[in-house]
Amino acid sequence: MKKQDKLRLGVNIDHVATVRNARGGDYPDPLRAAKIAEQAGADGITAHLREDRRHISDADIEGLMDVLTVPLNFEMAATEEMQKIALRHRPHAVCIVPEKREERTTEGGLEVAQDENRLAHFIAPLREAGSRVSIFIAADERQIEAANRIGAEVIELHTGAYCDAFAEGHWDRAQAELRKLEQMAQFADSLGLEVHAGHGLTYDTVSPVAAFPEVRELNIGHFLIGEAIFLGLEPAIREMRRLMFEAREE
Ligand code: PXP
Repeated sequence: MKKQDKLRLGVNIDHVATVRNARGGDYPDPLRAAKIAEQAGADGITAHLREDRRHISDADIEGLMDVLTVPLNFEMAATEEMQKIALRHRPHAVCIVPEKREERTTEGGLEVAQDENRLAHFIAPLREAGSRVSIFIAADERQIEAANRIGAEVIELHTGAYCDAFAEGHWDRAQAELRKLEQMAQFADSLGLEVHAGHGLTYDTVSPVAAFPEVRELNIGHFLIGEAIFLGLEPAIREMRRLMFEAREE
């Protein structure tokens, strides 16, 4: 994998829907945010349809499939209901994430190694329907090997532990987490998996991850939507892209 290989930015618009749902109406519209993200150079849009529909709704997914000109990365839990929805829409990519009702966000990676058989059967029809299947996992060799065995084409490495350590000022821990991410990106790439990364990334934490040549896509949401309040969505995304490409070129 060469350093010059393009690094894509997927913009996660879940939290536009969080703000909308705070008032129960239809403003702000996540579809409008997705179109602005496209104009700002997003290479893809990511949306997580949670089981409890706390942010993105079924109608949002339908609307995104209609209006997007860039690929949709549809995040979902490995449930029968979500599988049916994904098979109906056939998005460009499906990212399988763990989901717990009581969590505020996707706190950890998927436990693939202990659920290999079920997950292999779960993702097979999605792949047959033409969606690229990505598995959101921790930077852990066992989970990467299992993701490879079940037939996933892509893994997304959870960057939350690195970002949390950074935010809390634990520099040694942040460095250790980064080393783990780097080694596991190399390991996954050596198995032929495409490597993505995301969760909790900000302007302060994105550069070292963007610099890993094996990482082909970053998915970033919460920080960008937060920053949009201060800067506007388009400038916020443009600045993230600038930092990503600057890190890539160094
Ligand atoms: N990637 C995956 C698989 C996620 O579940 C999330 C959060 O929904 C993200 C990336 C984006 O994380 P954040 O919103 O913290 O940037």
